[in-house]
Amino acid sequence: MSVSLTSLTQRPAWKALEEHYQNIRHLHLRTLFAEDTERGKRFACEGVGIYFDYSKNRITDETLRLLLELARSAALRERIDAMFQGEKINITEKRAVLHVALRAPRGQSIVVDGENVVPEVHAVLDKMTDFANRVRSGAWTGYSGKRIRTIINIGIGGSDLGPFMAYEALKYYSDRNLTVRFVSNIDGSELVEALRDLEPEETLFIVSSKTFTTLETLTNARSARIWCVEALGSEQAVAKHFVAVSTNAKEVEKFGIDTANMFEFWDWVGGRYSYDSAIGLSLMIAIGPERFRQMLSGFHAMDEHFRTAPFERNLPVLLGLIGIWYNNFFGAETVAVLPYDHYLGHLTAYLQQLDMESDGKHVDLQGNRVNYQTGPIIWGQPGTNGQHAFYQLIHQGTKLIPCDFIGFCQTLNPLGHHHDLLMANFFAQTEALAFGKTAEEVAADGVPAFQVAHRTFEGNRPTNTILADHLTPETLGKLIALYEHKVFVQGTIWQIDSFDQWGVELGKVLANRIVPELQSGSEPNLTHDSSTNTLIRRYRELRGAEL
Ligand code: F6P
Repeated sequence: MSVSLTSLTQRPAWKALEEHYQNIRHLHLRTLFAEDTERGKRFACEGVGIYFDYSKNRITDETLRLLLELARSAALRERIDAMFQGEKINITEKRAVLHVALRAPRGQSIVVDGENVVPEVHAVLDKMTDFANRVRSGAWTGYSGKRIRTIINIGIGGSDLGPFMAYEALKYYSDRNLTVRFVSNIDGSELVEALRDLEPEETLFIVSSKTFTTLETLTNARSARIWCVEALGSEQAVAKHFVAVSTNAKEVEKFGIDTANMFEFWDWVGGRYSYDSAIGLSLMIAIGPERFRQMLSGFHAMDEHFRTAPFERNLPVLLGLIGIWYNNFFGAETVAVLPYDHYLGHLTAYLQQLDMESDGKHVDLQGNRVNYQTGPIIWGQPGTNGQHAFYQLIHQGTKLIPCDFIGFCQTLNPLGHHHDLLMANFFAQTEALAFGKTAEEVAADGVPAFQVAHRTFEGNRPTNTILADHLTPETLGKLIALYEHKVFVQGTIWQIDSFDQWGVELGKVLANRIVPELQSGSEPNLTHDSSTNTLIRRYRELRGAEL
């Protein structure tokens, strides 16, 4: 795709938004709702069963019109088509970006470098299905013939956060005779704690790494392998206790895992977009192949919505544009993602990588430094816990924090009135954030004068509400695809490459340089800055001291 675009901040739509911002920046949600009693319905839409209420945002019809104009000026439609058609839109790595192919139904055709990739995707899904069924049924046994009870996924970043988040999210549907644990950190304590109470004979390791060169993952995998071989008394045990998920067969073989036990994916799947590929093997074993495929069909439904729905009713487009409005015009630096569901406890951590590794870029596609803000800081944690921790700042602090509230109309675990109480809190928070409580209202409650200012809520704090029926594998797929495409929409408008991650490289290179300096027997010749040199010397002095 070659669309030449005027610099973002010079476009008429951008300039019009700047002017519009000056006109409405003080407009209060109280006024907007008072002037339009239908606002709660008009500024809402539903797509593939996900209800999206964006009425509690500081926007008018004109804001939306201008934001949609901005999207058009960024050739968003052409860019969506380019992604779905397998064009190499990850320009710095010269790769196609085709996570959407991972959930394309059998029979669909998506061509990369002259080859339809959909049959390959389904061949791997079939291989995963067969393996998952054998582990779940006990047909696949460990070296000593015992069935597998625990699966340990060793991976980091996209090879950990996705399957971990989804395993927790879909735990309700998982086979409770099997447990999945996730080890990511190179800190040995994590692996030691994960293995502490396990039977090596009943433990299966899935080494998940797109590149199969990642220091953390390979270090953990080597230590796990030693643990396994020492306990089972033979190198032969590795074949029954280790499988790999990777794009790099050569490195998998080098590590000593038979490539027959390797589940493949492809360089056109970014790490943070990969948990619905073979990277989700641990999840498939936990919830079963059928539910995994339901999740994929949820992803696909949202993909199709994103690809075909008019921008005015397109959930990822609206979510992305509203985010741009606060990020680039109100100067909001962060977005809080607040799921009101216990099972979504790891969603925000997952979205941090998805969003921040994708859109945390300071140069545009031409390599020029941008003169506008790009990706926001994503943070948050589930529901009412947050209310008793950081919501104070969202309600009454000096910073504007747009929030995404995510909730469900039905609970998977009906227990007394718990769910109504949970959702009452959910609705109450978005109401309080939007409308606040004026000083007059506070005083009218009989609050002593010295407290009135402290107990006043300005309101006008924006929120999105994302509401679905209940949490199923399919709903999770829809939700994740919603955020994947929201990130894409924003990256497109900011004209950045959302699919590379060069920003993580420097730290890796420097760490490799420091490793021998920490380990050498003789005093190393340190040539870092004075802070780093001093810290390394102090560490060397103390590292061997008794605990
Ligand atoms: O260092 C960042 C990163 O490259 C992520 O993008 C990726 O998800 C993670 O490391 C793990 O990489 P791999 O799957 O190749 O081990």
